[in-house]
Amino acid sequence: MTRTIQHTREQIKSWKKDGYSIGFVPTMGYLHEGHQSLMEKSIQENDKTVVSIFVNPMQFDNPDDLKNYPINPLADMELCDKAGVDLIFSPGVDEVYEKGFCTFVDMSVLTEELCGKSRHNHFRGVCTVVNKLFNIVAPDFAYFGQKDAQQLLVIKKMVKDLNMDLEIVGCPTVRESDGLAKSSRNTHLNPEERKAATILSKAIFEGKNLIESGERNIEKVVAAMKSILQTEPLAKIDYVEIVDGNTVQKIETLQGSVLGQAAIFIGKVRLIDNFIYEV
Ligand code: PAJ
Repeated sequence: MTRTIQHTREQIKSWKKDGYSIGFVPTMGYLHEGHQSLMEKSIQENDKTVVSIFVNPMQFDNPDDLKNYPINPLADMELCDKAGVDLIFSPGVDEVYEKGFCTFVDMSVLTEELCGKSRHNHFRGVCTVVNKLFNIVAPDFAYFGQKDAQQLLVIKKMVKDLNMDLEIVGCPTVRESDGLAKSSRNTHLNPEERKAATILSKAIFEGKNLIESGERNIEKVVAAMKSILQTEPLAKIDYVEIVDGNTVQKIETLQGSVLGQAAIFIGKVRLIDNFIYEV
C-alpha cells in the first residue's frame, strides 16, 4: 500500500519501465462485490492493477454525508489482497489537496441533469479528483461501474474532451440476490429500510421491461416506475427520469441508447439505480 503520491509514482514508473500495462480502479473504500467486479476485470485485462481508496471530500454536498461515510480499511485491504490487486493507493486528504488548492475540473451539460440537479458541485468534485488520480496513476485503462451511470458518462466525456491518454471501461451493476444494487451506503439502512429499499430495483426493472416489450411513451414508463415507488411508504422519490444514454439530456422519443434512472431517499439514505437500453 502507498500513502503518498511520490511512492505511487515511483512504483508505477518502474512497472512502466518493465513494459507492464496498468489498470486502475478508483474507489472510496468500504469495498464490496461491486468494486471487486471492477478489480477482477482490471486484473484480467492488465499486467498490474492499482486500486485507490480515498473518500473525496470535494464531491460531498452534505457535511453529514461525508462525516457518516462508512470506512473499514482492514476489510478493504483483505478484499484487495484476495482479489489479487497489485497496489492500493490510500492517501490522506492533505496529500491530495495541499493547502491553497484552487484548480477544478468543471463540466457543463452532462452534469446539469439527474444527480447534478440534486447534488450541487458533486460532479465537479468527482471530475477534479479523478483527473488528479489519473495524473498520479497514469493508467492505460480505468474501470467504472454502470451503477453510477451518469458518473461513467461524465468521466468518459472528460477523457475525450481533455484528450486524456487512457480508455474508460464500463462494468455491469452487481446486485444483492433481491435486486438491490450493492452500495457502500446500504450499510446505513436498518433492517426495515433495507427491505423497503428493494422497491428501487423493482421500479428500474419494470421501466426496462416496459420498453423492452414495446412501450414507447416516456411519460407512461416514468409514471409506471413512480407508481411502483409510491407503494413503499418508506421511499421518498428524488427523481425518476429517462434521458439520452450518451448525453444525459432530455429526450422526446425513445430511440437509440436511453438511460432510465431513479433516485430515492429511504430515511436519510439516498439510493440510485438505473437501466440502459438500446431502442
Ligand atoms: P465508489 O462509490 O466507491 O465507487 C467506486 C466504483 O465502484 C465506481 O466506478 C462505482 O460505479 C463502482 N460501483 C459501486 N457499486 C457498484 C455495483 N454495485 N456494481 C458495479 N460497480 C459498482 O464512485 C466513486 O466511489 C467515486 O465517485 C470515485 C469515482 C472513486 C471518485 O471519488
